[in-house]
Amino acid sequence: MEKFVIRGRNRLYGSVRIESAKNAVLPMMAASVLTKEKVVIENCPKISDVLSLIEILGRLGVKTEFYNENLIVDSGEITGDKIPEYLMKELRSSIFVVGALLSRTGSAEFSLPGGCNLGERPIDFHINGLKTLGYSVADDGEIIKVSGKATGSTVKLPFASVGATENIILASVTAKGATEIINAAREPEIVDLIGMLNSMGAKISGAGTGRLSIEGVERLYGTRYKPMSDRIETGTYLIAAVMTGGKVRITNADTENISFITDKFCNNTCKVDRINGIITINSDGKVRPFDFSTGPFPAFPTDMQPQSVAMLSLAGGISRVKETVFKNRFGYVESLNKMGAAIKVEGDTATCYGVRRLHGETVWAGDLRGGAGICLAALAAEGDSHVYGVEHIDRGYYAFEGKLKSLGADIERIY
Ligand code: UD1
Repeated sequence: MEKFVIRGRNRLYGSVRIESAKNAVLPMMAASVLTKEKVVIENCPKISDVLSLIEILGRLGVKTEFYNENLIVDSGEITGDKIPEYLMKELRSSIFVVGALLSRTGSAEFSLPGGCNLGERPIDFHINGLKTLGYSVADDGEIIKVSGKATGSTVKLPFASVGATENIILASVTAKGATEIINAAREPEIVDLIGMLNSMGAKISGAGTGRLSIEGVERLYGTRYKPMSDRIETGTYLIAAVMTGGKVRITNADTENISFITDKFCNNTCKVDRINGIITINSDGKVRPFDFSTGPFPAFPTDMQPQSVAMLSLAGGISRVKETVFKNRFGYVESLNKMGAAIKVEGDTATCYGVRRLHGETVWAGDLRGGAGICLAALAAEGDSHVYGVEHIDRGYYAFEGKLKSLGADIERIY
């Protein structure tokens, strides 16, 4: 069974380059299905979620090819409309393909998607949105069949769901008439997806607001698009630098959309400079406690919650962290506590009583970001940690151990 062996307490020093954002690239890959022409997604990370989505696209007859760092998607011919259950289970983003496939061919057959284990993750907002758009949905409890042609309508989301917003956009770009999405999610990755779709000929306005207008167009064209840089990957390396008292230069970074985390660090124990896609962080290893609550953008991103809690486990005081997006996103805390952290979870809130040091342990990563948080703790801990469940981390971090090693971390992948 694969694991990372991490010997902690090395100060990280050097430069690390950030990939295109996973959460932008995945819906963009699905968006490529909307056109017969070729689409090039630049700087596409070869993370396992991308590779799984490539396999799904392949099942539909879509050809994909990596050329250097760019992913070329050729959806000239769509030969299928069924996404096999085992592939749906691989990743939650498989659901995006449904919206795009419906716009392109008018039919899709699939089952409930998988994804990180963060508690119940239903797709009712997606399904209800598709119904409101005019698609017919037949669900026998296992297989869901959707077909038809979207007509312009108003979709009101009960919660600003990232995935549902994206899926409804994809399912309505070629609708007859205009669609409005109310209470749409405002994440920068959605703004980026809209940027790509508009470059393909879509007519979407309101990006970055809670109200999106999509004027249906007849057809979409090929494009070459550079997705935004991954703000969660950036945040993870920033925290790695803080926790190890390091000095790290982060390149190809999104210097705008990272203030949610750098604002928490810009204090007397840590200096952060942001200019022209480069972030430099210089930390003396001291962590100041702070409270935060996760939420849809522009609130603190839930995908940075576990890494932040790992950092706060070493803060000089008490921090309170409230998780409002997912019901079960504190699973990794058990591993941190095994390493010497003092974190108490009650309902949706974790109280972190900062400790002076963590120690190496044998621990399990149960999900992507929780796994990253555990590795960050191991980088700061005294002694060796053996982190199992690395396949979760591979879903979203390209060359995780390679990048950390280049910064001076002592981390090995053992097969
Ligand atoms: C996306 C991100 C994920 C991030 C999350 C929240 C991608 C590929 N993934 O996931 O990294 O953690 O946004 O920022 O972009 N919900 C329902 N019914 C639905 C859909 C969602 O009840 O039909 C609930 C979910 O269970 C969850 C909440 O809404 O509690 C938010 O989920 P959502 O924003 O949809 O997250 P994802 O799109 O799955």
